[in-house]
Amino acid sequence: MKVAVIGPGSLGTLYGGLLADAGHEVWLCHYRDAYVEAVERDGVRIESDILDRSVVEADVRATTDASEAGHVDLAFVLVKAHQTRDALARHEGCIGPDTTVLSLQNGLLNERILSDIVGPERVLTGITYQGGDRGDPGRVEHTYTGETRFGGEDMDAAREIAGVLSEAGIPDVEAVADYRRRIWEKQIGGVSVKPLAALTRLTCGGMVADDERVDLMRDLMREAEAVADAHGIEVDVDYDADVIDPLVDSPHRSSILQDVLAERKTEIDHINGAIVELADEVDVDVPRNETVTALVRGLEASYLDEE
Ligand SMILES: NC(=O)c1ccc[n+]([C@@H]2O[C@H](COP(=O)([O-])OP(=O)(O)OC[C@H]3O[C@@H](n4cnc5c(N)ncnc54)[C@H](OP(=O)(O)O)[C@@H]3O)[C@@H](O)[C@H]2O)c1
Repeated sequence: MKVAVIGPGSLGTLYGGLLADAGHEVWLCHYRDAYVEAVERDGVRIESDILDRSVVEADVRATTDASEAGHVDLAFVLVKAHQTRDALARHEGCIGPDTTVLSLQNGLLNERILSDIVGPERVLTGITYQGGDRGDPGRVEHTYTGETRFGGEDMDAAREIAGVLSEAGIPDVEAVADYRRRIWEKQIGGVSVKPLAALTRLTCGGMVADDERVDLMRDLMREAEAVADAHGIEVDVDYDADVIDPLVDSPHRSSILQDVLAERKTEIDHINGAIVELADEVDVDVPRNETVTALVRGLEASYLDEE
């Protein structure tokens, strides 16, 4: 299979490296020349305590313009959610009539954005609990493992790609028809802890160590669930067992906090901001999600020169 990874950061390097190691033709599609030079020279290196090998090294191609690859079978979109439109505009040359476009990004608007760009029949979206931390170009530490689930209009394509990912050694991958429910269930946890951890600069464990903060997390989740319900998505999230309890004592810094600390734009518009946008379409009140979205946007403005 010919694969383009659009956005080869933490997750993209992990997935792209494992697919290349399994013998697929993989193109890592970035926007910086220095990245391309380094990866074409040194390849990909994955360090993992999770896989059956502690180090996976693979040769890949890299480019700043994916039309160099020609049309691919699979375009894996793994930029941050707010980077999707720019990245697709840069790399659209690899997307042909038979290309499947797969996103495992966080956020609630990915299916809508990708369908708008390439047409809904070609889009697969979903979730992954695989996790990584990127280092130098082509280098990633594989830090978390868990399920990967995705689907879309073309479930045959979804099943074929799930098989390819499984054969490449990615654990627990499945094509599922209820992919939208899975996306909402993952993001309902995200809307509660991510913005609050960014605003307080607390670890996830620190966030849930105080009852007032946990009450606020529950309120954010209740609002998000009401929006899902009004959009016809029935979610089943146990706030304690699925979200709060697993965070007790966790030293993890949420992705939005990591972006704030590094003074990067965050995915807030696609997480709590998406709840606000989707609530507006179905007349549901989400005052707490509005507040945290405005506050995190303000925090971003303080370092992105947007004041
Ligand atoms: N990391 C995880 O463990 C994890 C787990 C589950 C889900 N997710 C989700 O997966 C998505 C990707 O996360 P990530 O952590 O892998 O992000 P990431 O490390 O920031 O990777 C994104 C990569 O895309 C590059 N990029 C930015 N604009 C681009 C463009 N126009 N064309 C090509 N490449 C471009 C970035 O370059 P720069 O080097 O300039 O930033 C970066 O290397 C997010 O939605 C995230 O929430 C991540």
